[in-house]
Amino acid sequence: MRSKLSLIHENAHLNTFHPNQLNWPKVSGTEELDFVSMMAFGETRHHEKAIAYLTKEFAQLAEIERHVSAVMAIVMAELQADGHPLAEGFELHNALSNFAAEELNHANMFYRYVRLLSGRDFRYPDNLFTERVGLYEGSDSPLVKLAALCCSAYIGESVITVFEHRTQAYDPERKFFLSQMLYAHGLDEARHIKTDHYVFDYVIPSLSVQETRRMRQILDATETLNTELAGRFERFTKAQFGIDYTEGNLGHSTQLLLTRMFRQKVFGGSEIHKVDEVLNEADRELIQAFAHAQVVHP
Ligand SMILES: [Fe+2]
Ligand SMILES: [Fe+2]
Repeated sequence: MRSKLSLIHENAHLNTFHPNQLNWPKVSGTEELDFVSMMAFGETRHHEKAIAYLTKEFAQLAEIERHVSAVMAIVMAELQADGHPLAEGFELHNALSNFAAEELNHANMFYRYVRLLSGRDFRYPDNLFTERVGLYEGSDSPLVKLAALCCSAYIGESVITVFEHRTQAYDPERKFFLSQMLYAHGLDEARHIKTDHYVFDYVIPSLSVQETRRMRQILDATETLNTELAGRFERFTKAQFGIDYTEGNLGHSTQLLLTRMFRQKVFGGSEIHKVDEVLNEADRELIQAFAHAQVVHP
């Protein structure tokens, strides 16, 4: 079982990009902004709204990734006092170290991208970081915390993967920087998804009834705070840019739809499911129309 985790992470040092390795442009030119607008609005002429939209989303994503990284560090520290068989050996620690380090590098990458795209030193202070980390500082088993965190992360990771498919469909040669960045992000995310699936397959079934209940409580509380965070980021961004970037924004409305759909299908019932196993025909058609992809996680 532990060897499965090792296999997922055996090429983590090869299939990855440090943010410094990307071909960062000095500014976002007209063609790039046309593409960014096309990805969000399905039309090239909404530069300003598309900049505001992506600034909000990537700044928020960096915030979420910082949290994932911090909680994984807590889990790894607490695993030192945990006798669970899944925590024996180096494999789980290795997987979580990679995961946490990659998320921190993504936060770094997106932090820089937001500044490149918007030309603003965009920062949001009321980010609920203490509250979001606080959910994971109690006396619960570290595997309960890991399970709650991975379920929550899985939703956002699945949504951004659909957006990566969309950039891939419209820009298969990765001519535009947005596509290059999402491709680099996706190399790491493919491992995160597999690690989440490992947690679904092996960690969650090993929890007791009470532990599973606690996992659900922490997960629900995480989702509630993340939803609050998204609302705060939206209001702040609209005020900063002085525009409503959500109007006529296909990317924004699809993102909301997918987030709701994935949450409901993945952990809305009594069991946790992998997203591609529970999508129906209508869900698949929506993903096909938006991202030209048959599945979320190939
Ligand atoms: Fe990430
Ligand atoms: Fe991730």
